[in-house]
Amino acid sequence: MTSPIIKAIYKRRSIREYTDDEVTLEQLREIVRAGTWAPSGLNNQPWKFVIVRDPAVREQLAQQTHYSHIIQAAPAVIAVFLDKGAMYDEVKDHQSAGACIQNMLLAVEAMGLGAVWLGQILKNKDKVNKILSLGSEYDLMAVLAIGHPSQKERESTRRDIDEFILSTF
Ligand SMILES: Cc1cc2nc3c(=O)[nH]c(=O)nc-3n(C[C@H](O)[C@H](O)[C@H](O)COP(=O)(O)O)c2cc1C
Repeated sequence: MTSPIIKAIYKRRSIREYTDDEVTLEQLREIVRAGTWAPSGLNNQPWKFVIVRDPAVREQLAQQTHYSHIIQAAPAVIAVFLDKGAMYDEVKDHQSAGACIQNMLLAVEAMGLGAVWLGQILKNKDKVNKILSLGSEYDLMAVLAIGHPSQKERESTRRDIDEFILSTF
């Protein structure tokens, strides 16, 4: 298990506490770039992103989720959308969005940063679009809170894979 990709897959944890250090625009653009290299059906690349570092905008976004403290603590967030005009298949385009987001999380890990995928904010996705001056053609998939990790121990668990493998032929 020496491959850096395998290592990143196992080492990545959701990071919800950050130092005050900034994340540069260059770093955030690199994270977006990694997202765009995810596979998508027909290579239609149906995603769009909004990068937010402005504290006033972050605070407005923070008010849209139960996890406001995470967005308030993170120096940057990236909102990930599906562009309805670029979609061709409901299921496959959503799968592409998930692959994109996971690519972004692995890039964050590789860059020594920390992030968490925030989904609870989707309950207020219309308000998020309004805050970001976006029309309804953009469907919010997730908000990633990103920063430099301040958490010491990062732990998570998974059930044994034999609980998930239905059969092996
Ligand atoms: C679709 C989705 C939605 C999530 N929403 C939230 C959220 O709103 N708030 C939060 O703190 N974590 C959220 N998470 C992170 C999960 O809680 C986390 O991935 C899970 O507990 C496993 O921990 P790990 O990422 O450290 O392995 C979400 C993850 C996914 C994939």
